[in-house]
Amino acid sequence: MPVPHNRNRSRSAFRLVGILFLVLTATVLLLRAGDNPGVHVPSYVEWTPETIATASSGDAFRGLLLSRHCEHCHGAEGFSQKADTPNLAGMDRLAIWKQLQDFRAGKRVSFPMNPIAQSLSTKDVADVVAYYAKLPVFYDPDDHRAFPEPAPDPVRKGVAWRLINFGDGERGIPPCQACHGPVAYRPGAPALLTQNGPYLLEQLEAFANDKRANDINEAMRTIAQLLTDDERHALAEYYGAGLGMNPGSAVAPR
Ligand code: HEC
Ligand code: HEC
Repeated sequence: MPVPHNRNRSRSAFRLVGILFLVLTATVLLLRAGDNPGVHVPSYVEWTPETIATASSGDAFRGLLLSRHCEHCHGAEGFSQKADTPNLAGMDRLAIWKQLQDFRAGKRVSFPMNPIAQSLSTKDVADVVAYYAKLPVFYDPDDHRAFPEPAPDPVRKGVAWRLINFGDGERGIPPCQACHGPVAYRPGAPALLTQNGPYLLEQLEAFANDKRANDINEAMRTIAQLLTDDERHALAEYYGAGLGMNPGSAVAPR
């Protein structure tokens, strides 16, 4: 029967045009998404007065209860027993609040931290950072913390000391202490003074090869790429040994 046969044919031709149209639309959308700067933003956090108010509004007591889920890795006193896991005690709340937002949004990738941060509500994040910010950073020999580790040799110490205090003007490296303390803090820059060395090295390497890319304006990716491999090691070891506490002293360590 010719009539239904023709109808079938025109129907499948119609379908084919439909499919081609869909494929074309999807391709155009994908290409346009590639041009969209929103896809490449390092972080959704912007330091507006509203953001600062939200990040500073936490209840430290509620944070203490929530921290039970964190102490297995970050330590009961906010100092980890594992040198490749960050210490959270005494960290500025804005700095660790931003990291938790980036873990939640997948802007910073971490196997344990992405699902953990996603399980926290907006209020939980503010509360838990309020708690960690209040924890003291003094020494407790019973706590089995990894920090501080033994100091590096004098040559490496000197390399780190110069970069922390003066940077390297010729290569365009600013001094670390201009943003990471104790001389000055930039909003969102975590203190490095009581941080574990192996963790710091991991982060510097991740910034240097773009594996970590959640830094606003690419500040840390740029700095980490300008440093040599030896310098990254020296800096991580210097901070990890607790030597960053007093980098402003006029005499270079020997
Ligand atoms: C299973 C172990 C584990 C648990 C449990 C855990 N963390 Fe983490 N956390 C890590 C590791 C490992 C990192 C380093 C991530 C990376 O590799 O970049 C990290 C990183 C972080 C950072 C970033 C610190 C910085 O200086 O950038 C914050 C903040 C943090 N965790 C908070 C928490 C909080 C709050 C909890 C509990 C609600 C928690 N973590 C539970 C292992 C853990
Ligand atoms: C212009 C300010 C600035 C300078 C200078 C700077 N940093 Fe940073 N750094 C930051 C900021 C801001 C962050 C947080 C990035 C983010 O949002 O994830 C950061 C993050 C880091 C981290 C990750 C810490 C963590 O707990 O996650 C390390 C390690 C680090 N910086 C090391 C250094 C070292 C070493 C130097 C000196 C060679 C240095 N930085 C110089 C601003 C700076």
